[in-house]
Amino acid sequence: MINIDILVGSTLGGTEYVAEATQPFLEEAGFSTQVHFSPDLTILNIEEESIWLVCLATHGAGDYPDNFKQIVEQINNISDDLSNIHFGLIGVGDSNYDTYCYAAKHFDLLLHEKGALRLGNIFNIDVVESPIPEDQIEDWIPLWIKDLNSLAI
Ligand SMILES: Cc1cc2nc3c(=O)[nH]c(=O)nc-3n(C[C@H](O)[C@H](O)[C@H](O)COP(=O)(O)O)c2cc1C
Repeated sequence: MINIDILVGSTLGGTEYVAEATQPFLEEAGFSTQVHFSPDLTILNIEEESIWLVCLATHGAGDYPDNFKQIVEQINNISDDLSNIHFGLIGVGDSNYDTYCYAAKHFDLLLHEKGALRLGNIFNIDVVESPIPEDQIEDWIPLWIKDLNSLAI
């Protein structure tokens, strides 16, 4: 069974619910899932083809949540590339900020720089329009699952 590593970046906990809301859909589609609330590159297997679903809030002024800073630093410092990684990306933010969903934007650029390939579009959830962000998952995740199924892993 193909596993999806779900990487969560969250300060106030809302994005953890977003991550957990994806699990039943992915599992129903035949994937196993593992949620990482403190993502750590050393326990992710980047030697083999892997799939990440990144659920990432923006904090500070367009910054990463504290629990996500470790993996960003680890990725910045690796000498290997991440060409074995396919990833999906869900950003959570507030459109009142000029730096709306910047963490997701920056992480997307970083992963691409390291050779990872994104499946599908970045799905940004605006907490102004969607005060319960996990409710938006059911619209997007079926599209992402289609992209996953088209991968020949
Ligand atoms: C101190 C603070 C700073 C924030 N800065 C940003 C920001 O720069 N850009 C953005 O899109 N959202 C920003 N937000 C909104 C959060 O991304 C939003 O509240 C989100 O739901 C938080 O997710 P979490 O509960 O998983 O931490 C900020 C929220 C707080 C409390």
